[in-house]
Amino acid sequence: MLNEALRNQAAHYVAGTLSADERESFEVLLEAREDLREHVRSLQEVVATMTLADRPTATPPPGLKNRLMDTLQQRPRNPSPECLVVTDATGRVEWVNAAFIAMCGHDLGEIKGRKPGQVLQGPETDAAAVARIRAALAAREPCHETLVNYHKDGSPYRVDVRINPILDEDGAPLQFVARERKLPDPA
Ligand SMILES: Cc1cc2nc3c(=O)[nH]c(=O)nc-3n(C[C@H](O)[C@H](O)[C@H](O)COP(=O)(O)O)c2cc1C
Repeated sequence: MLNEALRNQAAHYVAGTLSADERESFEVLLEAREDLREHVRSLQEVVATMTLADRPTATPPPGLKNRLMDTLQQRPRNPSPECLVVTDATGRVEWVNAAFIAMCGHDLGEIKGRKPGQVLQGPETDAAAVARIRAALAAREPCHETLVNYHKDGSPYRVDVRINPILDEDGAPLQFVARERKLPDPA
C-alpha cells in the first residue's frame, strides 16, 4: 500500500519539484517498488494528457505524442549498473537490486530483514565509519562512507556507500535507500 507521504513525493517527482538528492533517492525506491512505478506512470500519463490538451488550437509537433508515450513505456528501464539497497525505517533490508547481489554474493532471501552491516562487515571494516553511519541514520541524515565489506565467499572488497533517508512530512523515516559502488582493490 502506498501511504500518503509516498504519494505526495510521487507528485513532486512528476512535477519536477524534488531536490536533486530527493530525486535520486526516490528513483531508487522506484526501482524497488512496482506499486510506486505504477502510480508514477499514471501520474505521468495525466500530465502528458494535460500537456497535449493544453493548447487545443496548436498542432503538436509531429511524433511528439509517440515520443511521450515511448518515454512512459520505458519504465522500468535498463537494470541499474549501480548497487541499490532499500531498507525499512529500522535499517533492515527490504530489497536489493541484481548489481548488489552480484557484488556481495548474497541473494535477497539471505539478507532480507537483516541489517546490511550484520551480513557484510568484518574484521577489517572501519569501526569509525560504521559509527558515523549509525549516527547519521539515527539523526535521519544522509551519509557517504567507504567501507570494507566481505563477499559471501569471505573475500574482502571496498565499497562506496551513500545512504539517504526518505522522510514523511513530519520528518520520520519511511525507508532508507543506498547507492553503492564497488571500488577497485588498492594496488
Ligand atoms: C540503505 C542502507 C544500506 C546499507 N548498506 C551497507 C553496506 O553495503 N555495507 C555495510 O557495511 N553497511 C551498510 N549499511 C549500514 C549498516 O547496515 C548499519 O546501519 C551500520 O553498520 C550502523 O549500524 P549498526 O550500529 O547497527 O552496525 C547500510 C545501511 C542502510 C540503511
